[in-house]
Amino acid sequence: MSKRWAQEHARDPYCRMARRENYRSRAAYKLKQIDQKHHVMRKGDVVVDLGASPGGWSQIALELVGEEGVVIGVDLQPTPPLDGWIFIEGDITQDETRQEILSTLHDMGKKDVSVVISDMSPNISGNYDVDQANSAYLARIALEFAEDNIHPGGNFVCKIFQGSELEEFLRDTRSLFKSVRRYSPPASRKSSSEVYVICKARR
Ligand SMILES: C[S@@+](CC[C@H](N)C(=O)[O-])C[C@H]1O[C@@H](n2cnc3c(N)ncnc32)[C@H](O)[C@@H]1O
Repeated sequence: MSKRWAQEHARDPYCRMARRENYRSRAAYKLKQIDQKHHVMRKGDVVVDLGASPGGWSQIALELVGEEGVVIGVDLQPTPPLDGWIFIEGDITQDETRQEILSTLHDMGKKDVSVVISDMSPNISGNYDVDQANSAYLARIALEFAEDNIHPGGNFVCKIFQGSELEEFLRDTRSLFKSVRRYSPPASRKSSSEVYVICKARR
């Protein structure tokens, strides 16, 4: 961690707010802002959060779906538990991780998923073309999972780095969802190339 990063982190208003409000990441505010603007989740929903660690998005999702809802977080990194949260440590590119999500849902008597959210990021190499391609790959994997498991009318929110593959990704999401928008929440850092694709109402 560089000294400059640590100084910016300490000054960042969302980092300070996250510490004050007990969210595990400043990213929590991105999902909060996405939902305030686009209304992607409601009480009772079954949500799968891909790339969930350290858990900020899942904390927001747990608040939005309430006690009747279900939130399953998935990440490569071991992550401490949260009240009412199901966490699966695994790689979503692997079939066995996807199967584990589905068998967890099955054991709970849930047939399908209301909302898939993905804030997955690749390891950053510093070569923008490589990072963008890796981000687009993870977004594709998330879209495949959404296509296979979200029920008609359900929603999908996905991070992708801006670049040459974004337009094709938008085209593919439009064939699966009735409404597709790009959105940069105010909590995204100004220097960030990430954009969120908000897909509503699975056809
Ligand atoms: C920006 S962080 C997510 C932050 C989270 N939304 C929050 O609010 O706390 C991105 C995460 O994606 C995860 N990730 C990257 N590739 C993944 C994969 N193939 N399967 C599961 N998780 C992955 C990383 O381990 C990392 O924790």
